[in-house]
Amino acid sequence: MAVNDFIRDNKDRFLNELLDLLRIPSVSADPKFKGDVISAANFVKESLEKAGADVVEICETSGYPIVYGEKIIDPSLQTVLVYGHYDVQPADPYELWDSPPFEPVIKKTKIHPEGAIFARGSADDKGQFYMYVKAFEAMMASGDLPCNVKFMIEGEEEVGSSNLEKFVIENKEKLKADVILISDTHMISMQDPSITVGLRGMAYMEVEVTGSNRDLHSGTYGGAVANPINVLCEMIASMKDENDHITIPGFYDKVQEITAAQRARLNEAPFDLNEYQEKLDIADVHGEKGYTTIERVGIRPTLDVNGIWGGYIGEGAKTVLPSKAQAKISMRLVPDQDWHEISTLFENYFKSIAPKSVKVKVKAHHGGAPAVVSDSSVGYKAAEAAMEETFGKRPIPTREGGSIPIVALFQKELGSDPILFGFGLDTDALHSPNEHYGVKNYFMGIETIAAFFRQFRKLTEK
Ligand code: BES
Ligand code: MN
Ligand code: MN
Repeated sequence: MAVNDFIRDNKDRFLNELLDLLRIPSVSADPKFKGDVISAANFVKESLEKAGADVVEICETSGYPIVYGEKIIDPSLQTVLVYGHYDVQPADPYELWDSPPFEPVIKKTKIHPEGAIFARGSADDKGQFYMYVKAFEAMMASGDLPCNVKFMIEGEEEVGSSNLEKFVIENKEKLKADVILISDTHMISMQDPSITVGLRGMAYMEVEVTGSNRDLHSGTYGGAVANPINVLCEMIASMKDENDHITIPGFYDKVQEITAAQRARLNEAPFDLNEYQEKLDIADVHGEKGYTTIERVGIRPTLDVNGIWGGYIGEGAKTVLPSKAQAKISMRLVPDQDWHEISTLFENYFKSIAPKSVKVKVKAHHGGAPAVVSDSSVGYKAAEAAMEETFGKRPIPTREGGSIPIVALFQKELGSDPILFGFGLDTDALHSPNEHYGVKNYFMGIETIAAFFRQFRKLTEK
């Protein structure tokens, strides 16, 4: 096939161009990288132009821009909309990386005997959305683009996509498409391809507990005045009971109950608990009583402290009762929990359990709705057929624990269920030091995307 020949003949270049993109430290969370985030947007724009898009625009928002590109070959044909993000998570802690996060290197691993690209953003999401740019280029170059295509690549996904809703609402006509593809999730393994059909939502909070109006000598005052760190820890601990059930009143009110048959189906996915524990070097898993690991991640909400600070953390010992303690706490949500409602429930509860000896402040950061997408749409069927073509095995539908707020937004505003066509693996170390993406995953992804375009055309042709 001409498209696959083109991919094979341009392998080195396709890889090197991704490495160039990975060299740009487009960390959206840290203003220090502002210029780099903008450079990444320009890089995406140029790549789309070179690949053959006729319209490419940098669309300004009140935050980082959205890169839009399109190639309409025939308005009567189907249109595929591709979403991805060019921003990445902060690379900290740098000292835990085996090689610098923005100097990509290819190294073989047990799971990736053909090599994996080690760099921040390699799997999340540069390596994944860039597969579409290269598949598009290959289809254009070989004169075989079976559908129209639109790209919408944003730069604020890792900080909550707060400017995206406005953009989507204001650009419904521009974004109009017959199917939406997003590659920003995982597969079970190279041997067990899968397509994600569920993602959790998110409510992200920050809390501050204040005791005395200044730091105190812990001998003079210890035992007599509230230590805000102790109090914060007690408050956090009390938000889960002995079964790891969250104690915030009303928290579970809107959680959809999953039928026994659906649960059984979810648990049919290949999963080896021992291997899971071994890979993470843990002696046991930990989670809500009565649910399997697949269920704990896929269909149950949770509450986690992402960071906690206060007091003395320098060298040696300092005896002090700090005046303040703070924490960042996120809750992963499932259908039909509403993140605004959950944020309010959290805030009220957190304030209600605070002892009189401290003052508390609660701030809501970002949030996003959970989503479940159909596994019977034409788009899903085309994705299934494409994966079957390239992996030689029919993918199974899975639910993942991560969040991509745009999924529910697309459902609500564009009335379409995106296809979560991820090619990463859960061992890729997303958001963690030594993030990597398999070279094979990258090329299999490019081929599978091209196969999707053919399959989608075939399945929708009258
Ligand atoms: N690509 C991830 C989401 C993801 C990861 C889904 C793994 C499924 C499996 C995305 O970039 C991400 O990190 N999302 C954030 C969302 C948040 C910032 C609103 C997340 O899940 O923490
Ligand atoms: Mn991502
Ligand atoms: Mn991410």
